Amino acid sequence: MSINVNNLTKTFHAAGGEVRALDDISFSVKTGEFVSIIGKSGSGKSTLLAQLGALDQPTKGEILVDGQDITKLSGRKQTTYRSKKIGFVFQQYNLIPNLSALENVMLGLEFGGAPASERKDRSFELLEMVGIDADQARRKPGKLSGGQQQRVSIARALGNDPAFLLADEPTGNLDSETGAAIFTLLHDLSRERQTTIIVVTHDLDIAGKTDRTYTLKDGKLLTK
Ligand SMILES: Nc1ncnc2c1ncn2[C@@H]1O[C@H](COP(=O)(O)OP(=O)(O)O)[C@@H](O)[C@H]1O
Ligand SMILES: [Mg+2]
Repeated sequence: MSINVNNLTKTFHAAGGEVRALDDISFSVKTGEFVSIIGKSGSGKSTLLAQLGALDQPTKGEILVDGQDITKLSGRKQTTYRSKKIGFVFQQYNLIPNLSALENVMLGLEFGGAPASERKDRSFELLEMVGIDADQARRKPGKLSGGQQQRVSIARALGNDPAFLLADEPTGNLDSETGAAIFTLLHDLSRERQTTIIVVTHDLDIAGKTDRTYTLKDGKLLTK
Protein backbone atom coordinates (compact mmCIF):
# COMPACT_ATOMS: atom_id res chain seq x y z
CA MET A 1 0.00 0.00 0.00
CA SER A 2 1.43 3.38 -0.97
CA ILE A 3 0.85 6.58 0.96
CA ASN A 4 1.00 10.20 -0.20
CA VAL A 5 0.54 12.85 2.44
CA ASN A 6 -0.05 16.35 1.09
CA ASN A 7 -0.01 19.54 3.16
CA LEU A 8 -1.33 17.82 6.25
CA THR A 9 -2.15 20.12 9.17
CA LYS A 10 -3.71 19.23 12.52
CA THR A 11 -4.61 21.91 15.01
CA PHE A 12 -5.87 21.32 18.54
CA HIS A 13 -7.72 23.89 20.58
CA ALA A 14 -6.32 23.63 24.08
CA ALA A 15 -6.82 25.79 27.18
CA GLY A 16 -3.60 27.70 26.51
CA GLY A 17 -4.59 28.44 22.89
CA GLU A 18 -4.14 26.75 19.57
CA VAL A 19 -1.61 23.93 19.16
CA ARG A 20 -0.41 23.18 15.66
CA ALA A 21 0.51 19.51 16.22
CA LEU A 22 1.14 18.96 12.49
CA ASP A 23 2.12 21.89 10.34
CA ASP A 24 1.83 21.49 6.57
CA ILE A 25 3.44 18.08 6.25
CA SER A 26 4.03 16.36 2.92
CA PHE A 27 5.76 13.02 2.30
CA SER A 28 5.25 9.71 0.60
CA VAL A 29 5.84 6.07 1.38
CA LYS A 30 6.06 3.32 -1.22
CA THR A 31 4.45 -0.10 -0.99
CA GLY A 32 6.52 -2.39 1.23
CA GLU A 33 8.72 0.44 2.46
CA PHE A 34 9.77 0.50 6.12
CA VAL A 35 9.85 4.09 7.35
CA SER A 36 10.77 5.45 10.77
CA ILE A 37 9.68 8.71 12.31
CA ILE A 38 11.77 10.30 15.01
CA GLY A 39 11.43 13.50 16.98
CA LYS A 40 11.23 14.80 20.53
CA SER A 41 8.26 14.25 22.78
CA GLY A 42 5.45 16.57 21.70
CA SER A 43 6.74 16.94 18.13
CA GLY A 44 3.57 15.42 16.63
CA LYS A 45 4.54 11.77 16.02
CA SER A 46 1.48 10.14 17.61
CA THR A 47 -0.78 12.76 16.04
CA LEU A 48 0.63 11.88 12.62
CA LEU A 49 0.02 8.14 13.15
CA ALA A 50 -3.54 8.86 14.30
CA GLN A 51 -4.25 10.76 11.05
CA LEU A 52 -2.66 7.99 8.93
CA GLY A 53 -4.76 5.39 10.72
CA ALA A 54 -7.97 7.44 10.34
CA LEU A 55 -8.30 7.51 14.11
CA ASP A 56 -8.58 11.27 13.90
CA GLN A 57 -9.59 13.83 11.29
CA PRO A 58 -6.96 16.34 10.10
CA THR A 59 -7.66 20.06 9.98
CA LYS A 60 -6.30 20.41 6.44
CA GLY A 61 -4.58 18.39 3.75
CA GLU A 62 -4.98 14.97 2.21
CA ILE A 63 -3.78 11.44 2.85
CA LEU A 64 -3.85 9.36 -0.31
CA VAL A 65 -3.74 5.63 0.34
CA ASP A 66 -3.29 3.82 -2.97
CA GLY A 67 -4.57 7.04 -4.52
CA GLN A 68 -7.70 7.38 -2.39
CA ASP A 69 -8.01 10.24 0.09
CA ILE A 70 -8.93 8.57 3.40
CA THR A 71 -9.72 11.90 5.05
CA LYS A 72 -12.72 12.23 2.71
CA LEU A 73 -14.21 8.81 3.51
CA SER A 74 -17.44 8.49 5.51
CA GLY A 75 -17.09 7.40 9.13
CA ARG A 76 -18.21 3.91 8.19
CA LYS A 77 -15.67 3.59 5.37
CA GLN A 78 -12.95 4.85 7.67
CA THR A 79 -13.87 2.06 10.10
CA THR A 80 -13.58 -0.47 7.27
CA TYR A 81 -10.23 1.02 6.25
CA ARG A 82 -8.96 0.68 9.84
CA SER A 83 -10.16 -2.87 10.34
CA LYS A 84 -9.26 -4.30 6.92
CA LYS A 85 -6.11 -2.45 5.92
CA ILE A 86 -4.29 -1.43 9.06
CA GLY A 87 -2.55 -3.07 11.97
CA PHE A 88 -1.75 -0.96 15.03
CA VAL A 89 1.04 -1.67 17.50
CA PHE A 90 1.48 0.50 20.59
CA GLN A 91 4.16 0.99 23.20
CA GLN A 92 1.86 -0.29 25.96
CA TYR A 93 0.86 -3.48 24.05
CA ASN A 94 -2.84 -2.83 24.86
CA LEU A 95 -3.59 -6.50 25.48
CA ILE A 96 -6.67 -7.47 27.48
CA PRO A 97 -5.28 -8.69 30.82
CA ASN A 98 -7.87 -11.33 31.66
CA LEU A 99 -7.69 -13.06 28.27
CA SER A 100 -4.92 -15.45 27.24
CA ALA A 101 -2.44 -14.42 24.53
CA LEU A 102 -4.33 -16.73 22.17
CA GLU A 103 -7.70 -15.16 23.00
CA ASN A 104 -6.24 -11.69 22.53
CA VAL A 105 -5.14 -12.60 19.01
CA MET A 106 -8.45 -14.32 18.26
CA LEU A 107 -10.27 -11.17 19.26
CA GLY A 108 -8.35 -9.26 16.61
CA LEU A 109 -9.62 -11.54 13.86
CA GLU A 110 -12.75 -10.41 12.14
CA PHE A 111 -15.94 -11.05 14.00
CA GLY A 112 -18.69 -13.03 12.38
CA GLY A 113 -16.54 -14.52 9.64
CA ALA A 114 -14.70 -17.74 10.43
CA PRO A 115 -15.81 -20.21 13.12
CA ALA A 116 -13.97 -20.16 16.45
CA SER A 117 -11.96 -23.31 15.67
CA GLU A 118 -10.55 -21.72 12.51
CA ARG A 119 -9.79 -18.47 14.29
CA LYS A 120 -8.01 -20.47 16.97
CA ASP A 121 -5.83 -22.32 14.44
CA ARG A 122 -5.02 -19.07 12.67
CA SER A 123 -4.15 -17.38 15.97
CA PHE A 124 -1.77 -20.19 16.94
CA GLU A 125 -0.12 -19.80 13.53
CA LEU A 126 0.25 -16.04 13.91
CA LEU A 127 1.70 -16.47 17.38
CA GLU A 128 4.15 -19.08 16.17
CA MET A 129 5.23 -16.72 13.41
CA VAL A 130 6.18 -14.06 15.96
CA GLY A 131 7.96 -16.59 18.17
CA ILE A 132 5.28 -17.41 20.78
CA ASP A 133 4.83 -21.15 21.38
CA ALA A 134 1.63 -23.00 22.30
CA ASP A 135 2.41 -22.99 26.02
CA GLN A 136 3.04 -19.23 26.06
CA ALA A 137 -0.07 -18.71 23.93
CA ARG A 138 -2.25 -20.07 26.74
CA ARG A 139 -0.86 -17.64 29.31
CA LYS A 140 -2.39 -14.32 30.25
CA PRO A 141 -0.32 -11.23 29.37
CA GLY A 142 0.75 -10.78 33.01
CA LYS A 143 2.56 -14.11 32.81
CA LEU A 144 4.60 -13.06 29.77
CA SER A 145 7.65 -10.80 29.51
CA GLY A 146 7.40 -7.36 27.90
CA GLY A 147 9.01 -8.63 24.72
CA GLN A 148 6.61 -11.58 24.56
CA GLN A 149 3.64 -9.28 25.14
CA GLN A 150 4.77 -7.06 22.28
CA ARG A 151 5.08 -10.15 20.04
CA VAL A 152 1.50 -11.05 20.94
CA SER A 153 0.33 -7.54 20.11
CA ILE A 154 2.11 -7.77 16.73
CA ALA A 155 0.42 -11.15 16.07
CA ARG A 156 -2.91 -9.49 16.90
CA ALA A 157 -2.14 -6.59 14.55
CA LEU A 158 -1.37 -9.06 11.75
CA GLY A 159 -4.67 -10.92 12.19
CA ASN A 160 -6.43 -9.35 9.24
CA ASP A 161 -3.32 -9.41 7.08
CA PRO A 162 -2.91 -5.63 7.01
CA ALA A 163 -1.25 -3.92 4.08
CA PHE A 164 -0.16 -1.14 6.38
CA LEU A 165 1.30 -1.42 9.89
CA LEU A 166 1.50 1.61 12.19
CA ALA A 167 3.67 1.22 15.28
CA ASP A 168 3.98 3.91 17.97
CA GLU A 169 7.22 3.36 19.92
CA PRO A 170 6.82 -0.44 19.84
CA THR A 171 10.18 -0.97 21.53
CA GLY A 172 9.82 1.91 24.00
CA ASN A 173 9.25 -0.37 27.00
CA LEU A 174 11.77 -3.04 26.03
CA ASP A 175 15.46 -3.53 26.75
CA SER A 176 17.68 -2.91 23.72
CA GLU A 177 18.22 -6.59 22.88
CA THR A 178 14.50 -7.41 22.96
CA GLY A 179 13.76 -4.19 21.09
CA ALA A 180 16.20 -5.25 18.36
CA ALA A 181 14.45 -8.65 18.08
CA ILE A 182 11.05 -6.96 17.73
CA PHE A 183 12.53 -4.64 15.13
CA THR A 184 13.89 -7.62 13.16
CA LEU A 185 10.43 -9.17 13.25
CA LEU A 186 8.91 -6.00 11.77
CA HIS A 187 11.69 -5.75 9.23
CA ASP A 188 11.14 -9.34 8.03
CA LEU A 189 7.42 -8.63 7.72
CA SER A 190 7.96 -5.64 5.51
CA ARG A 191 10.18 -7.74 3.28
CA GLU A 192 8.22 -10.98 3.14
CA ARG A 193 4.69 -9.65 2.99
CA GLN A 194 5.35 -6.28 1.34
CA THR A 195 3.69 -4.69 4.36
CA THR A 196 4.17 -0.93 4.41
CA ILE A 197 5.40 -0.06 7.90
CA ILE A 198 5.66 3.27 9.67
CA VAL A 199 7.31 3.07 13.05
CA VAL A 200 7.71 5.90 15.54
CA THR A 201 10.81 5.40 17.65
CA HIS A 202 13.23 7.10 20.01
CA ASP A 203 15.84 4.50 19.22
CA LEU A 204 18.27 5.92 16.65
CA ASP A 205 19.88 2.50 16.09
CA ILE A 206 16.50 1.16 15.04
CA ALA A 207 15.68 4.21 12.93
CA GLY A 208 19.03 3.88 11.17
CA LYS A 209 18.12 0.40 9.94
CA THR A 210 14.85 1.39 8.27
CA ASP A 211 14.58 2.29 4.56
CA ARG A 212 14.03 5.94 5.36
CA THR A 213 13.80 8.19 8.41
CA TYR A 214 11.70 11.32 8.76
CA THR A 215 12.21 13.76 11.60
CA LEU A 216 9.39 15.79 13.12
CA LYS A 217 10.10 19.02 14.95
CA ASP A 218 7.31 21.18 16.37
CA GLY A 219 4.86 19.63 13.92
CA LYS A 220 7.08 20.23 10.90
CA LEU A 221 8.84 17.60 8.84
CA LEU A 222 12.54 18.34 8.57
CA THR A 223 14.14 17.74 5.23
CA LYS A 224 17.73 16.62 5.31
N1 LIG B 1 -6.07 15.67 21.92
C1 LIG B 1 -5.22 16.69 22.05
N2 LIG B 1 -5.65 17.89 22.50
C2 LIG B 1 -4.81 18.94 22.61
N3 LIG B 1 -3.51 18.89 22.30
C3 LIG B 1 -3.01 17.72 21.85
C4 LIG B 1 -3.84 16.56 21.71
N4 LIG B 1 -3.07 15.54 21.23
C5 LIG B 1 -1.83 16.04 21.11
N5 LIG B 1 -1.79 17.34 21.45
C6 LIG B 1 -0.60 18.23 21.41
O1 LIG B 1 -0.05 18.12 20.12
C7 LIG B 1 1.37 18.10 20.18
C8 LIG B 1 1.91 16.81 19.57
O2 LIG B 1 1.56 15.72 20.41
P1 LIG B 1 1.92 14.21 20.05
O3 LIG B 1 1.52 13.93 18.66
O4 LIG B 1 1.34 13.34 21.11
O5 LIG B 1 3.51 14.21 20.15
P2 LIG B 1 4.56 13.00 20.24
O6 LIG B 1 3.83 11.72 19.93
O7 LIG B 1 5.61 13.35 19.24
O8 LIG B 1 5.10 13.02 21.63
C9 LIG B 1 1.73 18.30 21.64
O9 LIG B 1 1.92 19.66 21.86
C10 LIG B 1 0.49 17.80 22.36
O10 LIG B 1 0.36 18.40 23.61
MG1 LIG C 1 3.68 9.96 21.07
